[in-house]
Amino acid sequence: MSASLSRPRVGVWLIGARGSVATTVVTGCAAVAAGLHPPTGMVTETPAFTDSGLPALSDLVFGGHDTVDCPLPKHAETLTAGGVLPPGVATAVAAELTAADREIRPGGPTPGDTRSEAELITAFADDIRDFVHRHELERAVVVNVASTEPASQGPDASLPPSTLYALAALRAGCPYVNFTPSEGMHHPVAAREAERSGLPYAGRDGKTGQTLLRSVLGPMFAQRALTVRAWSGTNLLGGGDGAALADPAAAAAKNAGKERVLTDTLGTTPEGETHIDDVPALGDWKTAWDHIAFDGFLGTRMVLQTTWQGCDSALAAPLVLDLARLTARAHEAGLSGPLDALAFYFKDPVGDAPSGLAEQYEALIRFAGRLREGEAGEGAAEREDAAHGAAHPAREARGTGDRP
Ligand SMILES: NC(=O)c1ccc[n+]([C@@H]2O[C@H](COP(=O)([O-])OP(=O)(O)OC[C@H]3O[C@@H](n4cnc5c(N)ncnc54)[C@H](O)[C@@H]3O)[C@@H](O)[C@H]2O)c1
Repeated sequence: MSASLSRPRVGVWLIGARGSVATTVVTGCAAVAAGLHPPTGMVTETPAFTDSGLPALSDLVFGGHDTVDCPLPKHAETLTAGGVLPPGVATAVAAELTAADREIRPGGPTPGDTRSEAELITAFADDIRDFVHRHELERAVVVNVASTEPASQGPDASLPPSTLYALAALRAGCPYVNFTPSEGMHHPVAAREAERSGLPYAGRDGKTGQTLLRSVLGPMFAQRALTVRAWSGTNLLGGGDGAALADPAAAAAKNAGKERVLTDTLGTTPEGETHIDDVPALGDWKTAWDHIAFDGFLGTRMVLQTTWQGCDSALAAPLVLDLARLTARAHEAGLSGPLDALAFYFKDPVGDAPSGLAEQYEALIRFAGRLREGEAGEGAAEREDAAHGAAHPAREARGTGDRP
């Protein structure tokens, strides 16, 4: 980004920095900051967030880790050919893509990597610290957008890479966002460290399509007192995510979040399963079908079917930008622990959050208000508290440090 050096700049350190979501994030941020495209899909660009003190898109600086070496401009070309990025935009922001590409460091563990877990954490944390230092950043948010890992192998297994990165983020003093279903900060070792660190974190697994729809429809059935008998879903997608989710263990991690939203909003777990099929020909374009069998008055049987056809990275990128800005601002305001007010963005939110989208949106808007208050500064807020005998909303918003 071409921000003036006099303004405090904020780093966004992407784990999986050469993937489709990451490439769309870097391209989209530059394109919107330059006024080439409107910020469609970015909730933080709506009026409710105007005075919340969020970092400007032009003040975000990108870097990250990846285990492959395909340059970002090259991946952006592939996404353009696939219709994920509009024609011309990757060329228009080539300088920003090249700048971000220079800040991508080798991730791990790679096959045959002989480094211990402790060595990997140290190496990752050093890379992040070096990035913050060289760019004189005010702070950096670490965001996991790497390939989905298989579900945990149990407490005695080695730490999954996502948890090594989460621990590295804490070591480097950075807030952390897990946009994937991987374990990350959910691992008990990381959860303990997070509690000690006093840093804010959010996750997990961005809610962009089928689950977004479920978090709206689930409450509708519950509120109308209709009995859902079965809820079945199928997803067809390609791209790197489709390939990773062809592994049943990785798909299990993803589907757990999709099903949790039904149990939480309906109050019971309906019959039916969710499947993910890898269809490489579809690339980043996903089709998600839901088939919902429900009972109406006097047991009359009915069915609702939905078809969602979305472009995965175009759905995810604005949310990643929102999350990076909100989490950076939460860190600046002194918030710590799980940011449950960001549940709006996730399939499997940390902390104690409602599962229905409408309540989650209300919580997010209240959070925007608290961030606005936080910007008045702790001293000013305390003086106000003393005058009104009230608690400071930013302090109330602080997480309890509860385990996720
Ligand atoms: N709508 C969405 O796109 C959406 C929604 C929710 C969650 N997600 C999650 O976001 C993630 C990224 O999706 P994508 O489509 O960009 O996938 P992708 O396959 O295009 O990108 C993933 C990147 O992670 C890298 N990677 C793998 N292991 C790594 C490691 N150990 N260290 C560093 N980098 C590593 C890969 O090399 C790749 O470049 C996936 O986990 C996906 O499930 C996406």
